[in-house]
Amino acid sequence: MKDIARQELSIHIEVMDMLNDQIQKEAQSSTAYLAMASWCDQQGLENSAQFFYAQAEEERTHMMKIFRFINDNGGNAMAPATSAVNHDFTSLEEVFSDALAHEVGITKSIHKLVAKSRAEHDYATDAFLQWFVTEQMEEEQTMRRALDILKLGEKMSLLQLDERIAELNTAQ
Ligand SMILES: [Fe+2]
Ligand SMILES: [Fe+2]
Repeated sequence: MKDIARQELSIHIEVMDMLNDQIQKEAQSSTAYLAMASWCDQQGLENSAQFFYAQAEEERTHMMKIFRFINDNGGNAMAPATSAVNHDFTSLEEVFSDALAHEVGITKSIHKLVAKSRAEHDYATDAFLQWFVTEQMEEEQTMRRALDILKLGEKMSLLQLDERIAELNTAQ
């Protein structure tokens, strides 16, 4: 039965294997963001925690989108195993820069999938993946904006320090 399903599969078989790898990557992203949310929570950074809890949920919806696509088209979606993720961060900036690096890696993975779909003339998967191409652009932009905000924070502290230097000027 399983073999018949695979023979009648409209998704190219190697593309399906890559889609299953992508399911695992989305699940891994969800776990990584959950760990980031936990770190933020422990630091009392409620808004950042909320941001990463939401990201963790989003990654799960990405995972399920691919999962359903495979099964709805006669393939075999594989429930993913996730490996250990980092829970130790030294700063909020490190959390967001890790998140950005992670998203950049996911974007590359999606692009490879698109390239493979086109090479194998699997245009259904190519069309399906276009949503992910746009989504990755948006997610990278969000992480970059977060880093910009944090860098602005650094500058603000520097300006505050500079104000303290003024005290030295008046003391002279
Ligand atoms: Fe994702
Ligand atoms: Fe993402």
